[in-house]
Amino acid sequence: MDIETLALHGGYAPDPHTGSTAAPIHQTTAYAYATAAQLADVFGGRAPGYIYSRIGNPTFSAFEKRLAELEGGIGCLSCASGMAAIACVAMGLTRAGDHVVTTKGIFGGTVSFFAKTLARFAVRTTFVDAGKVEAFRAAIDPATRLIFVETITNPGMEVPDLPAIADVAHNARIPLVVDNTVTTPILVRPGRWGADIVVHSVSKFINGHGNSIGGAIVDTGNFDWSSGPFADIQALARRAGKLAFLAHLRMLIYRDLGCCPSPFNTFLHLLGIEGLPLRMAAHCQNAQALAEYLANHPRVTWVNYPGLTSNPYHELAGRLFGGRFGAVLTFGVGSAEAAARFVDRTVLAQNLANIGDSKTLVIHPASTIFQEFTPAERQAMGVPDDLIRVAVGVESVKDIIADFESALEKM
Ligand SMILES: Cc1ncc(COP(=O)(O)O)c(C=O)c1O
Repeated sequence: MDIETLALHGGYAPDPHTGSTAAPIHQTTAYAYATAAQLADVFGGRAPGYIYSRIGNPTFSAFEKRLAELEGGIGCLSCASGMAAIACVAMGLTRAGDHVVTTKGIFGGTVSFFAKTLARFAVRTTFVDAGKVEAFRAAIDPATRLIFVETITNPGMEVPDLPAIADVAHNARIPLVVDNTVTTPILVRPGRWGADIVVHSVSKFINGHGNSIGGAIVDTGNFDWSSGPFADIQALARRAGKLAFLAHLRMLIYRDLGCCPSPFNTFLHLLGIEGLPLRMAAHCQNAQALAEYLANHPRVTWVNYPGLTSNPYHELAGRLFGGRFGAVLTFGVGSAEAAARFVDRTVLAQNLANIGDSKTLVIHPASTIFQEFTPAERQAMGVPDDLIRVAVGVESVKDIIADFESALEKM
């Protein structure tokens, strides 16, 4: 079925007992069984069933099936947040002494996770230029266990060449992990371009309404877990086959780290997915119009949006994302002070640390998300001090442009 249909029907059919057309919120901690033997069988994996909502829950299952179908993957794990999803995947693939290759320009929380938190467990990370395939190859060493990229770096706005980087990863017999938060499966299924694992901050476009945090991990089915450098996952592959990595997470890393979401948040994410195809179409159309407007504005010094024909990633992004370019863009106004003045003077656009709400959002990353880094570190990460990030919403584009026009005039 097409993605518009899967967004509405994937993962859940009306409940056979009640006819409930919306997936029920299973607000429960644990699941009761009539006999000790039955519960022992579920614990032992000899019978299907839920045990405890930190490991699984029927509301999560509906969401996981729907997102796996949208991504064309073989399975999914729903997480408390995008960071929980990233941490769970990275910790599931690495041990002390291992190494990760990722890129500059990615989400600040993810940079912090790799450079600071994972480093505490003696896992090293190398940050390369997202646009240079050769840099990925050069950064790999015998201890590298994964490559991690964002489809469009946030806020760097670079587009890594997914099929070429997947080849680099696979030649080293390691998985390519792709954060598809900014593009969502509506624009791209990274598995189609060779990605092995897809992660999401569901808090963004998938939820779509800025009402709850969430994350997800999808296995695309591309990686052969029965070989490669992961001895424990390889052992599981004999029993779990292609689902070995997700089983490794659910029964160990995800379970032990407590990565699970809340059933109520998951219900809101399921609702969010229903309108995702329609929203993404409107988001992308508005972002294109706003980017073109800003590119012609005398007070704007630069605009970074792959939908602009002058953008160095225009051709690649068009090919990977089916002619649509997402709804996040950045632009510069010459200085950090001018950027702050612009943000202060918007009325419709809200100044907050999020993307992917239906509403238009703006933020000055250097003084907020990236304030824990020095100006030199920020510059190296592709976050200059005058950068303003916009997550373009689905309001009337006329009203969005009028708000920007007035803020730029008063800046
Ligand atoms: C691209 C990207 N990945 C991951 C995350 C982390 O997600 P969450 O805030 O849901 O933990 C974010 C959050 O801003 C993000 O923008």
